[in-house]
Amino acid sequence: MHMDNGKVWFITGAARGIGAEIARAALAAGHTVVATGRSLEPLQQVYREFGDTVLPLALDVADEAQAEAAVAAAFERFGRIDVLVNNAGYGLLGAFETLAAADIEAQFTTNVFGLMHVTRAALPGMRARRSGHVVNVSSIGGVTGFEGSSVYCATKFAVTGFSESLALELAPAGIAVTVVEPGFIRTDFLDGSSVRYGTRDTPDGVSTERSYSQYNGEQPGDPVRLAAAVLSLVAREQPPVHFLAGSDAVEIASTAVEKRQRELTADRALSQSVDGQF
Ligand SMILES: NC(=O)c1ccc[n+]([C@@H]2O[C@H](COP(=O)([O-])OP(=O)(O)OC[C@H]3O[C@@H](n4cnc5c(N)ncnc54)[C@H](OP(=O)(O)O)[C@@H]3O)[C@@H](O)[C@H]2O)c1
Repeated sequence: MHMDNGKVWFITGAARGIGAEIARAALAAGHTVVATGRSLEPLQQVYREFGDTVLPLALDVADEAQAEAAVAAAFERFGRIDVLVNNAGYGLLGAFETLAAADIEAQFTTNVFGLMHVTRAALPGMRARRSGHVVNVSSIGGVTGFEGSSVYCATKFAVTGFSESLALELAPAGIAVTVVEPGFIRTDFLDGSSVRYGTRDTPDGVSTERSYSQYNGEQPGDPVRLAAAVLSLVAREQPPVHFLAGSDAVEIASTAVEKRQRELTADRALSQSVDGQF
């Protein structure tokens, strides 16, 4: 059973933060939501009041089989997924040498491979209907690098590169891809319940400062407003491939693009010198 006038949204990491606000905005606009998260119980609490318009499902995106099962359950219940929001993710922060290999792998497993598991599971249904929209939540850290977040940025650059490429691949199939690049948004992202810092013993000279903690609760971006922006993008006939969320993101990205352009220009001749004279 689905509402013909509404879309079916499938959202990962929907129990709190940006994912929960996108779900609430979609529900308020009359859409149907498959709200997924690592544990079922908090989802059932959060979405209790919405009854049949929400299907809460347990989904740890790191688990490919669970991703396939959740997408299958969504199809069984609603017959389609119109909008996939790959939002689940967390930050592994701190100087690179403080990060253990296993923690780095776990960071990629959630932020990158998990997002790919859910996307892979959802695409056949979208291709069959020749419509759909994949919204991937990257970060301003997927646009430019930041000190103390090399690995987090690496995962978000991966999400951005994946999304840009997927947008090209899927356009002929009538499926849109948008990568959302938020600045600092006031959620639990920097709270001890979400963020992870490095745990390795490090040589002298390596900063072990948890420098991002000071921004917890001070972030300028509002997740409710971010959700409203995402709703408006999804409603567009021609959604953009990239969307920067927040004035901080716009400012940082434009500085990064200018710096990139300056470097490109400064070394244009050397770059071109590599062309073969075959
Ligand atoms: N807030 C920011 O400043 C900011 C900026 C740029 C990008 N982002 C990105 O925005 C997305 C949402 O973050 P947020 O700000 O809303 O933070 P949040 O309040 O900490 O929420 C993160 C959500 O992701 C879920 N999650 C984490 N690992 C998961 C996994 N393996 N499987 C399924 N769900 C998982 C969490 O589930 P649990 O409740 O089970 O922990 C939680 O629901 C993330 O991808 C983040 O990187 C955030």
